[in-house]
Amino acid sequence: MAPSKKAGRKVIQAPKKGGASGGTGAKFAKADWKEGFKKKQVGVSDMTLLTKISNESVNENLEKRWKNGDIYTYIGSVLISVNPFRDLGIYTDTVLQSYKGKNRLEMTPHVYSIAESAYYNMNAYHENQCVIISGESGAGKTEAAKRIMQYIAAVSGGEDSSIQEIKDMVLATNPLLESFGCAKTLRNNNSSRHGKYLEIMFNDHGEPIGAQITNYLLEKGRVVGQIENERNFHIFYQFTKAASAEQREMFGLQGPEAYAYTSRSNCLEVSDIDDTKDFADTIHAMQVIGLSAHEQSEIFRMLAIILWLGNVQFVEKDDGNAEIADTGVTDFVAYLMEVDSALVQKVLTSKVVETQRGGRRGSIYDVPLNPAQAGSGRDALTKAIYNNLFEWIVSRVNVSMKPRGAHTQLIGILDIFGFEIFEDNSFEQLCINYVNEKLQQIFIELTLKTEQEEYVREQIKWTPINYFNNKIVCDLIEERRPPGIFAALNDACATAHADPAAADNSFVQRLSALSSNPHFEPRGSQFLVKHYAGDVMYNIPGMTDKNKDALVKDLLDLVAGSGNQFLQSLFPDRPDPNSKKRPPTAGDRIKQSASALVENLMRAQPSYIRTIKPNQNRSSSEYDTKAILHQIKYLGLQENIRVRRAGFAYRNTFEKMVERFYLLSPATSYAGDYIWQGDPRSGCEKILTDTGIAKEEWQMGVTKAFIKNPETLFALETMRDRYWHNMAARIQRAWRNYQRYRNECATRIQRFWKNNKEGIQYAEVREYGHQILAGRKERRRFSLLSYRRFFGDYLDVGGKSAFGQEMHSICGIGSEDVAFSSKIQLLVSKLGRSSKPSPRFLVITQKAVHIVIVSEANGRQTTSLERKIPLVTIKSIAMSNFRDDWMALNCNISEEGDPVFSCIFKTELATTLLRLTQASIQLLIGPTIDYAKKKDKRTQIKVIRDETVPRNDVYKSHTIHVPSGEPPTSKSRPPAKRKPGVVRPITQGKLLRKGGPDKPVAASRPRPQAQPIPGKTATPPVSIQKPAVATVQKPTASAAGSGRSVPPPPVRQAAPPPPPEGPDVPMYKAKFQFDGQEGEMSMKKDDLVELVEKDDNGWWLVKRNGAEGWAPSNYLELVPPKPKPAPTAPPPPPTTRRPPPAPDANQATSRPAAKVPVKSVAASANAKPVSVFPGMGAGNGSSTPWKKSQQTSNGRDSDESPASSRPSSSLASKPPPPVATKPKPGPPVGAKPGAPKIPGKPPIPSAPRPTSSTATPLAQRQGGGAKPAGVGQMDLAAALAKRAQHIADNE
Ligand SMILES: Nc1ncnc2c1ncn2[C@@H]1O[C@H](COP(=O)(O)OP(=O)(O)O)[C@@H](O)[C@H]1O
Ligand SMILES: [Mg+2]
Repeated sequence: MAPSKKAGRKVIQAPKKGGASGGTGAKFAKADWKEGFKKKQVGVSDMTLLTKISNESVNENLEKRWKNGDIYTYIGSVLISVNPFRDLGIYTDTVLQSYKGKNRLEMTPHVYSIAESAYYNMNAYHENQCVIISGESGAGKTEAAKRIMQYIAAVSGGEDSSIQEIKDMVLATNPLLESFGCAKTLRNNNSSRHGKYLEIMFNDHGEPIGAQITNYLLEKGRVVGQIENERNFHIFYQFTKAASAEQREMFGLQGPEAYAYTSRSNCLEVSDIDDTKDFADTIHAMQVIGLSAHEQSEIFRMLAIILWLGNVQFVEKDDGNAEIADTGVTDFVAYLMEVDSALVQKVLTSKVVETQRGGRRGSIYDVPLNPAQAGSGRDALTKAIYNNLFEWIVSRVNVSMKPRGAHTQLIGILDIFGFEIFEDNSFEQLCINYVNEKLQQIFIELTLKTEQEEYVREQIKWTPINYFNNKIVCDLIEERRPPGIFAALNDACATAHADPAAADNSFVQRLSALSSNPHFEPRGSQFLVKHYAGDVMYNIPGMTDKNKDALVKDLLDLVAGSGNQFLQSLFPDRPDPNSKKRPPTAGDRIKQSASALVENLMRAQPSYIRTIKPNQNRSSSEYDTKAILHQIKYLGLQENIRVRRAGFAYRNTFEKMVERFYLLSPATSYAGDYIWQGDPRSGCEKILTDTGIAKEEWQMGVTKAFIKNPETLFALETMRDRYWHNMAARIQRAWRNYQRYRNECATRIQRFWKNNKEGIQYAEVREYGHQILAGRKERRRFSLLSYRRFFGDYLDVGGKSAFGQEMHSICGIGSEDVAFSSKIQLLVSKLGRSSKPSPRFLVITQKAVHIVIVSEANGRQTTSLERKIPLVTIKSIAMSNFRDDWMALNCNISEEGDPVFSCIFKTELATTLLRLTQASIQLLIGPTIDYAKKKDKRTQIKVIRDETVPRNDVYKSHTIHVPSGEPPTSKSRPPAKRKPGVVRPITQGKLLRKGGPDKPVAASRPRPQAQPIPGKTATPPVSIQKPAVATVQKPTASAAGSGRSVPPPPVRQAAPPPPPEGPDVPMYKAKFQFDGQEGEMSMKKDDLVELVEKDDNGWWLVKRNGAEGWAPSNYLELVPPKPKPAPTAPPPPPTTRRPPPAPDANQATSRPAAKVPVKSVAASANAKPVSVFPGMGAGNGSSTPWKKSQQTSNGRDSDESPASSRPSSSLASKPPPPVATKPKPGPPVGAKPGAPKIPGKPPIPSAPRPTSSTATPLAQRQGGGAKPAGVGQMDLAAALAKRAQHIADNE
């Protein structure tokens, strides 16, 4: 009932308090709310989990929970509800919403959960649903029914106004029918005095589009009298207390105390009922349902008629006959009924008796009634009017709620009067208890009997559970032949219809025939029925009359003659007096409607709510153990638990199981396809085996698979969800790997191309240069070292540097491209002295050669353009065929004479000039250099071979001294390979195979064929994971051995064990200090290193103190080995080197696995398990009851199931670091043909002498600066060239 405000407030406060203490608003409010809601549960919330099953333990559990405010408890899917008799604040909208879309196990037990599952199942399986609520009067059935309606209205969507209208109406039927159909009884202040089955119809979107109420057996006797302290139907108090003045005027209405029917039991007020407020609610409900003002008015007129009729009193006349005490009352009744007042008086005090003779109508007598007879006649009339009024209201409500369209399914909610035992039990109790017997039958049928029968049918191993089947009691009451109680009543009525007392006697006699039934005992004017819920003693007097339930003809005539249409319409079908057919008795009707109800319910999927009443006093603290134990017993809760425990929560046909869960086994699915080739039964079995569910959790029947616990089913569902989730993750992972791989490849290609693009251009220029020199000039050793690129603009005059820009403007170059720039030594002739080389800058553009001079005047340096020689004026270039750097530009017309200069890039310079002039300039190479000293004064410079010249060459008085060079025809060494910097190997991701794509792949599982329908067995699923596990072993072992001197793992036995480290290993000494970058080996001078591998790019992999790294080969000097190595011994074939990924092995091992290559077959370490147990790894880490240890296919110890059930374990991703796997080179380095003898190290180019030892002092001078800066990014040769320029500058 209405929650007490105090209690309500308390509950709402809880989250607020939490929110405040939590500090920040919404976030905490929510968290705290959950906290508050998920209060600690006491006892077990599902009694199938009870350790001991007995009525007492059930009782104990319920008591613990009830006292803790947990009124709901499950037995499987059956909800047990113990009336709290207080507001627990558990029906708020927040709570309601929290049950939306949740399955039963996700939430604490609640009536909302039952509503949710009914609504969900209706939508999901397109099956009609019904919720059967049973229990004693006052146990909470009506409350539960209302909560279910509230829940469904709240979750069933539908913005549509007609849907909202239906929802409103459905909810409005509660106050309306409660007002007219409920009353305060000793047991319940809002006791339903009728049974009600509400069906809500839904469209295929799950939106309510209509509803229908079926009414069962209104307790109409309550209209005319109630036992002390009970009340009439609520509406009478609401109406008499709260009617409008107009109504009072119209119906002469007074307070409830003024009417016999409302005041006789001395209970006008009920503590928790506000009749005035409820009246307003009733009126509002009438409006919502669409009752017109006229209809409402007529309803109240009927109530007034009943109230006033009740006040008609009879006095006994002298002759013993009845007389109306106050005709004023009958006059008013006549006014209200719109009939003649005298007629009212007449029908109330006399009755018409028609004699029948031989089947023909005889005489008609008016028989006066005594006051008692008159009184019961009057009461019969009022009862009939009220009963018919109630039925009219129900059918009127149904008219309003008629479905607005085609409905696909429905949910029925049955709230029926509870089992009743009174002091004086009469026909009404018999009917009520009979209906309850029928409901118990359904429950037994569906939960106990059918279930057990199915196990037998499916040949499931099963221990039958005994339970009391109340069918025998149902038969006792309803059976026709041999006649049961109802049939006996009917027979008694038929034989002695005129005299009620005679009929009752006849009934007594007939009942004796039933005494053989163990549930029946005749006891004189009483009889005992042993109902499932208890023994009830029924009183026979008056029973036949109640069963006959016929209004006397006079009264029917009175109503028929009324001028009031509404009153007339309440009595539509008058029995045909001429009909031979006996009109149906009350017993007939209840039997008929009960079986219709049962039929209806059996067509729907039932949910059960079994309500329990904790005490008879509506106390929120009294737990009447004895009374509850009794209810527990008769409700059969113990048996219910036993059947549930022994039984299986879920079953479905093999086909359906396979269809739903085939994804869960790799044997039945591949990439989402069904691949099982066997029959559905074997497929289903395979799935259940492969999912690792414990064998006790499931059984295979004949046509169905049975799952024992709902948890298992939910686990299967979760796995199914996770399957897709994991698949998506897998695809994403593969895609990301692919992307990463692609990007890395692209980057490498780009880098390679960038490195080469310019190089190609320069190389072309260089090639051209060689062509034009065409073996005519001796070569410097240095230029043989490698193909140096021709950069051209060595001074960056065309670039952005400050110096370049200054030069650019000094030369006045404008928009021209700078083709070449360099420092030169120009031969300058001073007056009277011999010419001397003097530094200049030379800049060549498309149009001219510029010579720039830096002169010093007054202590200030000025840079200026000394000379500009248009290209067109240059006729030829003169050079010697020695290895000197001198050249002259022979110009056409020049006052100044031809410039003669030395340029280290002479070949490039000449090449540039030829290219710019389309080779119109001649290249003269001869023993002397001819040039014009002045206009028309030609001179020759001689060249003398002089091996004593320490460096390049020396100019002195028209003679160049130069040591001999390499033969003109000698070829440059191939271009130095770049050291590719620190390049990460692309080793991660499953797309990659170790060793590259062309390496043979570990045989992967072939894609099985998709199966629409069976055939033969598919390949075992888990094989995918096996290789991963197997390959893991090796690296792990060797990795473990790396730290200690453990012999290499036996798997590698094919190859001889590596030679022990010692004198056999070639040792090198650092000639210079070298500060290495990442991946390089830093060395101090004279450090000894061990050669691991030579690479022909000038970098060798060396090892010192167990650490490996790269070092420039020209820094290294072989320490002569003791046993002299054969110089001709062929070195091991140069392995295709991969760049050094890690600086040293030790570090690599200590680093995260990500740095090292991953076995190609192994999934990434963070890959989620996919194929076998998606979803089975309990999120909370708890062990799951249904999970058995996984049997692996190769029979490995099942203890390893976590690893073996995963495609990859963390071990799988830890192969050895790549450096460690490099083969050790054999013989010493000196033998390698390609190894540059001439040091490839920067400072060297300036050493002109043939001995390589000259390099040493210079290199030493350079110190740390000699380090190949930016190696990996910069071309080694280019670096050399730059360095050479630098050195030249310094001189
Ligand atoms: N879940 C509940 N929470 C609070 N009070 C309840 C609850 N269920 C029943 N009650 C109280 O018990 C009374 C009787 O419940 P009701 O549903 O009318 O019983 P029934 O229909 O089984 O006879 C209600 O009027 C209400 O006061
Ligand atoms: Mg009720």
